[in-house]
Amino acid sequence: MPDLEAILLVGGQGTRLRPLTLGTPKPLLPTAGVPFLAHQLARARSFGVRRIVFATSYKAAMFEPVFGDGAAFGLSIEYMTEETPLGTGGAIRNAAQALGSPPDAPVLVLNGDILSGHDIGDQVRTHVAGQAAVTLHLTEVDDPTRFGCVPTDGDGRVTAFLEKTPDPVTNRINAGCYVFTRSVIDAIPEGEVVSVERQTFPGLIESGALVLGYADRTYWLDVGTPAAFVKGSRDLVLGRLASPALPGPAGERLLLAGAEVAPEAEVGGGTVVGAGARVFAGASVSGSILLDGCVVEEGAVVSDSVVGAGARVCAGAVLRDAMVGDRAVVGCHNELQAGARIWPEVELPARAVRFSSDV
Ligand code: GTP
Repeated sequence: MPDLEAILLVGGQGTRLRPLTLGTPKPLLPTAGVPFLAHQLARARSFGVRRIVFATSYKAAMFEPVFGDGAAFGLSIEYMTEETPLGTGGAIRNAAQALGSPPDAPVLVLNGDILSGHDIGDQVRTHVAGQAAVTLHLTEVDDPTRFGCVPTDGDGRVTAFLEKTPDPVTNRINAGCYVFTRSVIDAIPEGEVVSVERQTFPGLIESGALVLGYADRTYWLDVGTPAAFVKGSRDLVLGRLASPALPGPAGERLLLAGAEVAPEAEVGGGTVVGAGARVFAGASVSGSILLDGCVVEEGAVVSDSVVGAGARVCAGAVLRDAMVGDRAVVGCHNELQAGARIWPEVELPARAVRFSSDV
C-alpha cells in the first residue's frame, strides 16, 4: 500500500475521565507504561501510515513535547490546533490543511481514545475498491445504546447513522476509525463547529453518497470511561491486544524503571507499577494502574483501580474500581468502591478499624 496520511482526533476534554484528565489530556494518559497514543501510533505505522496530523484543542501544548516531529516513532507528525474546539468534523476539516494527499486519495481518521485490533489496511482496501466517500469501521457491542448505531445493507452500504439511540436497530456501532476520500473532507464547512457523527455522516447518507461499513469482531475498546481505561491498560499488559509500543514483554504485570515490589506483595492481573512506585509487603494489587512514584502500603488491596502519581494508599485501605488523583492520600483502612474518585491532593483521614467484638 502506498504511504497513507492520517488525522488523529485528540482535542476532546475527556470529562468522563476526570480527575485524571484535569492535568493531562486523555490521549497522553499513561496506559500500559506509555502515553495512550503511543499504542495507536505504533499500530497505524504497522499498516503503512507515515504522516499523521494531530487535531489538538484541549491542552494542545502538551502533545508536541511528547511526540515531537514523530521521528522517534518512525512517523512525521504535524500539529493543527483549534483555538476553540470545532467538534469532530470541524477538527478534521481544520487538520486537513496540513495534508498533502490529492483529492481522490484515502485519508485515515482515528479517534484518539480507541484500542482496536482491526486490520486498518483491509479497511483502506475496502474503501478504495468500493470507491466510497467514507468507510466506517464498525464493531459489535452488547449494549449499543451508548454509541452511534450503524445499520448496513447486504452490500455493506450504511443505510443510517443513528447517534446514541435508546432503541438501537443493530448492535453494530461506529468504532471511531474512518477512511475518508480527501475531497469529502474538503467539503466540510471550514472554521465551523461540525460533528461527523451528527452532521457529516447522516448528511452524506441522505445525499446518496456511498458510505460503507467495514465490520469485524477483533479486539475493540473505547477507553473513555474509568473502567474502560483501566481495562485497556490491563489488556495490553496481559497481551490480549498486541501492541508494538508495550515497553516490555506481555505478562501478569509490568514494572517500570525503579518500581519496587516487596517479595511478599501480590501484584498481577495486568497491573502496571509506574516508575519509582512502591508496593509494600502484604499488599495485593490486581488489574490496576499505579502511576509514577505512588505508594501502596502494607496490607492494602487495590483492584481494577488507578492510583495517581505520587499518591499514597495507606496500610489496610481497600480500592476496588476507584480512581485516586495525583498526590492524594487514602488514609489507613478506608474503602473506596464502585467508581469512587478522589481528587488530586485530597487527604482522606485514616478510619478507625472496627473489630467484630466491637459490634
Ligand atoms: P468526554 O468528554 O469524556 O466525552 O471525552 P472526549 O472529549 O474525548 O469526547 P469523545 O470521546 O466524544 O471524543 C471522541 C474523539 O474526538 C476523542 O479522540 C476526542 O479527543 C476527539 N474530539 C472530540 N471533540 C473534539 C474537538 O472539538 N476537537 C478535536 N480536535 N478533537 C475532538
